[in-house]
Amino acid sequence: MRILNIAAILVIVTATGVRAETFPVITDQTVLSECGDCHMAFPPETLPKALWQKIIRNLSDHFGEDASIDDATVAVILDYHVKNASDVSQTRAAKVKWRTTRPVTRILDAPRFIDKHRGCDAAFKNPQVKSPSNCLACHPDMQRTGSTKENLSFLPASVRRQCGD
Ligand code: HEC
Ligand code: HEC
Repeated sequence: MRILNIAAILVIVTATGVRAETFPVITDQTVLSECGDCHMAFPPETLPKALWQKIIRNLSDHFGEDASIDDATVAVILDYHVKNASDVSQTRAAKVKWRTTRPVTRILDAPRFIDKHRGCDAAFKNPQVKSPSNCLACHPDMQRTGSTKENLSFLPASVRRQCGD
């Protein structure tokens, strides 16, 4: 009996250990086309409702770009992001991983992002990555399947190791 229990625990630990954090897949076509044009459509579970409202209501002044769209489309996109925000959604990604009481201005300064990417500064500057916001450079499946499984094989070994791979 005891041996069986230990075996069961080992199976659980191994199974959760190999599974990278997974975001719910974005299926809303408006969000995918309007917010996935210049960068991937970021998972709405990463940021709180009030911040999504601020970002999506100010698209004419968007991180140095004019990303303006018409009001009807803004309403659809805002609704999707608010419903799935880190302080609203009950998914594991939002509730357990990204919800925070600390002030956040973008994904890059969210505590979970900082915590998971210590040592990645050199990797972020690599010409094939260019920006820490370029999630898909290192997490190639994130948009398609929601998986954060990383692939850093394109980086020099020393840079890769520092970045926790
Ligand atoms: C015209 C191009 C363009 C479009 C369209 C666009 N963005 Fe952006 N967005 C940018 C740029 C440029 C950045 C800054 C990226 C960087 O720092 O590398 C950015 C950054 C962001 C960030 C910050 C991510 C981080 O690194 O912390 C969020 C959140 C964001 N965009 C959300 C959206 C949403 C939501 C939409 C759809 C309504 C959208 N974007 C559409 C150009 C765009
Ligand atoms: C330079 C490559 C690189 C970029 C760019 C990058 N990441 Fe990561 N990320 C990693 C590596 C490597 C890990 C694994 C770190 C570890 O296991 O300690 C990781 C881990 C994560 C994790 C935790 C996964 C888990 O199962 O614990 C999340 C979530 C994540 N990244 C989200 C993002 C998001 C969102 C973006 C874009 C805004 C991003 N990453 C950009 C390399 C990158």
